[in-house]
Amino acid sequence: MHIVSVINYKGGVGKTTVTANLASELAWRGYKVLIIDTDAQASLTFSFVTPDQWDAKYKSDKTIKSWFDAIALGKEPPPLSDFVIHPEVVNKRVGKKGGKIDLVCSHLGLINVDLELATLLGGVNMTQAKKNYIKVHGKLKEAIAELAEQEDYDIVLIDCPPNFNIVTKNAIVASEQILIPAKPDYLSTLGIDYLQRSVKELVKEFNEYAELNEGTESISPQVLGVVFTMIQITSGEPIAAQRQYISQTKRLGVPTLKNYFRENKTIFADAPQALVPVVLNLYSSGTHSDIVTEIEKFVNEFEGLLEEL
Ligand SMILES: Nc1ncnc2c1ncn2[C@@H]1O[C@H](COP(=O)(O)OP(=O)(O)O)[C@@H](O)[C@H]1O
Ligand SMILES: [Mg+2]
Repeated sequence: MHIVSVINYKGGVGKTTVTANLASELAWRGYKVLIIDTDAQASLTFSFVTPDQWDAKYKSDKTIKSWFDAIALGKEPPPLSDFVIHPEVVNKRVGKKGGKIDLVCSHLGLINVDLELATLLGGVNMTQAKKNYIKVHGKLKEAIAELAEQEDYDIVLIDCPPNFNIVTKNAIVASEQILIPAKPDYLSTLGIDYLQRSVKELVKEFNEYAELNEGTESISPQVLGVVFTMIQITSGEPIAAQRQYISQTKRLGVPTLKNYFRENKTIFADAPQALVPVVLNLYSSGTHSDIVTEIEKFVNEFEGLLEEL
């Protein structure tokens, strides 16, 4: 089973759009996919369930917030399987190759959980502080490992918020791979370098503490690559300004994927409301068909990268 975090410090760069489309195309190809929404904005959640469904069925006790709340209260959280839902509309479109998409929803109140979790850090002495650090940052990893024993997921995708708080760190600690969606512009390029450094620091810190904590394995999440989003195409290639930032990102020494998501506000903006991501939509226009082909090529490349591991 692969565990991949989808992350970028910047909001609005297409993380959720990439996660939703990647998950759907993989499920269509026969993969059993679990997606976990760890962003308080809950865009991934609302790409697969309606706000009414969420309000009525999940909000009170079936989101990742309730799971983290238990930890914040100092309790052992319930198994993650208690929070897994099976969004119907997209799964009807997924087809008959045996694939599926399951989802752990997010909650707007998740934003406060980080502060509550932070109160669990520290301790009367260094040993206690290190134990608490592992406890607070390693919980999602443990929970996914436990879930993997009951369910046969091929891949878990974690859609991260645009920050590096405790919830995000849980996602990184749980992940073997990190996928970085990015818009080729000035601020996104800056953010990638900073993100890589933050991940390195987290890994170093976690492993230092893990060594002292019997039974805790060390972690080594790897950057799978940067996937560029919102690409503006003229004459079959990205516009010059974006090409410049793509080259700049490559010079950071971070792997970049060859395939990208093209910018198209009309096609990408309406998909979440229909509860089926663009790649699985029925299309009528040539542009839509081109975009679907591009996403399929991205997923081919993604699959290839996972196979190389
Ligand atoms: N390739 C694209 N072309 C045009 N608009 C896009 C594209 N990808 C995402 N968007 C839009 O941009 C906004 C932010 O995208 P989202 O995937 O939610 O980003 P993030 O998760 O990084 O915050 C949304 O309104 C989404 O519909
Ligand atoms: Mg998002």
